[in-house]
Amino acid sequence: MSTSKYTVTAALPYANGPLHLGHVAGVYLPSDIFVRFLRMNGHDVAFICGSDEHGAAITLRAKKEGISPQEIVDKYDGIIRNGFTDFGISFDIFHRTSSKLHHETAQDFFKVLEEKGHFTKETTEQYYDEEYRQFLADRYISGNCPICSHEGAYGDQCENCGTALSPKELIHPVSALSGKTPVLKTTSHWFLPMERHEGWLREWIQEGTLDGVQQHNPKEWRNQVVGQCMSWIDSGLRPRAMTRDLDWGVKVPVAGGEGKVLYVWLDAPIGYISATKQWALDQGKNWEDYWTGDRKLVHFIGKDNIVFHAIIFPILLKAHEGFILPDNVPAYEFLNLEGGKFSTSRNWAVWLHEYLADHPDKIDELKYTLTAIAPETKDSEFTWREFQSRVNNELADVLGNFINRALVLTHKYYGGIVPEPGSFTDEDTAILEEIKSVPNRISKLVYAYKIREAQAEAMNLARIGNKYLADREPWKLAKDEANANRVKTIMYIALQITANLEVVLKPFLPSTAKKISEFLNFSQNEWSDGERVDALPIGHQINKPSILFRKIEDEFVAAEVEKLNAINMTETKFDPQKEETSYDDFMKMDIRLGRILTAEKVEKADKLLKLTVDTGLDQRTIVSGIAQHFSPDEVIGKTVTVLMNLAPRKIRGVESQGMILMAENDKGELSFVSPEKNFGPGYEVR
Ligand code: 2FM
Ligand code: ZN
Repeated sequence: MSTSKYTVTAALPYANGPLHLGHVAGVYLPSDIFVRFLRMNGHDVAFICGSDEHGAAITLRAKKEGISPQEIVDKYDGIIRNGFTDFGISFDIFHRTSSKLHHETAQDFFKVLEEKGHFTKETTEQYYDEEYRQFLADRYISGNCPICSHEGAYGDQCENCGTALSPKELIHPVSALSGKTPVLKTTSHWFLPMERHEGWLREWIQEGTLDGVQQHNPKEWRNQVVGQCMSWIDSGLRPRAMTRDLDWGVKVPVAGGEGKVLYVWLDAPIGYISATKQWALDQGKNWEDYWTGDRKLVHFIGKDNIVFHAIIFPILLKAHEGFILPDNVPAYEFLNLEGGKFSTSRNWAVWLHEYLADHPDKIDELKYTLTAIAPETKDSEFTWREFQSRVNNELADVLGNFINRALVLTHKYYGGIVPEPGSFTDEDTAILEEIKSVPNRISKLVYAYKIREAQAEAMNLARIGNKYLADREPWKLAKDEANANRVKTIMYIALQITANLEVVLKPFLPSTAKKISEFLNFSQNEWSDGERVDALPIGHQINKPSILFRKIEDEFVAAEVEKLNAINMTETKFDPQKEETSYDDFMKMDIRLGRILTAEKVEKADKLLKLTVDTGLDQRTIVSGIAQHFSPDEVIGKTVTVLMNLAPRKIRGVESQGMILMAENDKGELSFVSPEKNFGPGYEVR
């Protein structure tokens, strides 16, 4: 088999908080499985990650915790790093963007782009917090999303609908520092004129070619990735500021850059390069070998990172020259938790480091479940019930049961020696053929980034084995000496299936595979060897097995669910009270009851409903971001609360004249605010 060279990156986590299971399922576990598989297949791989330690995510967290940004990144880099080690994520290096080497690398990169004329310097008006004397970009400013109306969209992105924004697009912008409305003030920055790159980007994303030369197969990219990129490009690329007025970050290394740092989304992906440099230094390798030539660069990321990895970073790499571009950007959708979204601020999360502290003996159980439900093509959900059923019904009852039977019976009948088989029946031969095809089927899926199905294939081998023994019942046949040869054949096949499982489970469940190899006193490290169905030699002595998986009791599930709810009932559940407002300010708002007369979905906007509302005064159009919670039929006829005098604005081409007020609970579910008495439309609320 021919081997290739790979540089695989996993999104650098912000060192502003611990990792939760959503991060693990959607980036770190699939990339680890992919890399373990590549290594077993003899490919030359560098697996790169590290902490992302700049940007507003860090400084705002520091402000919240009342400590310095450096203390914040030191604290969370430690927690994240240990979590990866304990969970067994096999990075070649986990680096830090606060390191000196990273700062130098990012500055050199910036200087090259500046010298080559890839930036423009522009003076523009930007939002400014007068109280804190600071310009407000990215997460320093929030407001209502102009696209989906979500409150709390950031200055660079709405996390609800994924749209990339600039602060000036926000409706009702508010400073994250003072909570006040900011003012506009002029400042100068280096901009990346992205529109200059539209031509080649279109060709590269749609055809996979650069100047007609094939770089990657665009059909291998996920629809969601191509779709998001094309919708970005189609809506018109614009110059994007690459520097910020902040003091935490990589200093702008050219004249005029005093008091300014690089935009975090410029410096963070360069972190992949600086991490590679550090690793190469440590290993006596040449880092450039990992970023040039005939090598595949693969970025594992969450869907909110798509444009940064599939548009902005490729622009930077190409403009700099001398770097390969990504071969694929496998982006994952989001994982939900017990009916709600993972939320750091509401503490609705299962934290990796806490899980590992509580259940250090259940690592592969978690890996298996997270891969089985991984949000590869659509959002998915983790529940403790599902965890229990995956562990009990699949790992314990199928995989564990099969291996235990095969090994215990081998000890019982042959003192743990692999027996010589008698003749194979047609059915045996068919099973052996089937087993032989498993590694190949898994390979195809892994190379296509279908890790979830690949694990299901590996598990299917255990099902085949379990069924083989259950159907043939060697324990019954063994009672009659006349069947001795037949029993040997059955046990021989069961042992070969076990040996094959040891190989194919390795990328997915490394500790389980290790235990199986200890039981078998035999191990195969190369994937291609797994294609040999008769690897385990006749006459080989195996060891005594122990239990592979213990079942999860109902009490375990109840305790975990209770923990989640209990944490959620504490102070973290509700946002603190907002700043005081005056009676006069409140009375400026015209709030009335209205009745929804018609409702329809807004085309190409899966979150929006277009409503006609009878307000007593008139019948008006209101666009509301509730389509994922209510169908049009459900809302027609409802009496609701309407903010009447909100300035009209266009949402997806429809003018919205007001806002329907909604209550949102801690699971992200919405409820109308409806009168408890039978009041009709028009009555005022105050
Ligand atoms: O979204 C995030 O968590 C970012 N810290 C990911 C950065 S990936 C890369 F560019 F460094
Ligand atoms: Zn939005």
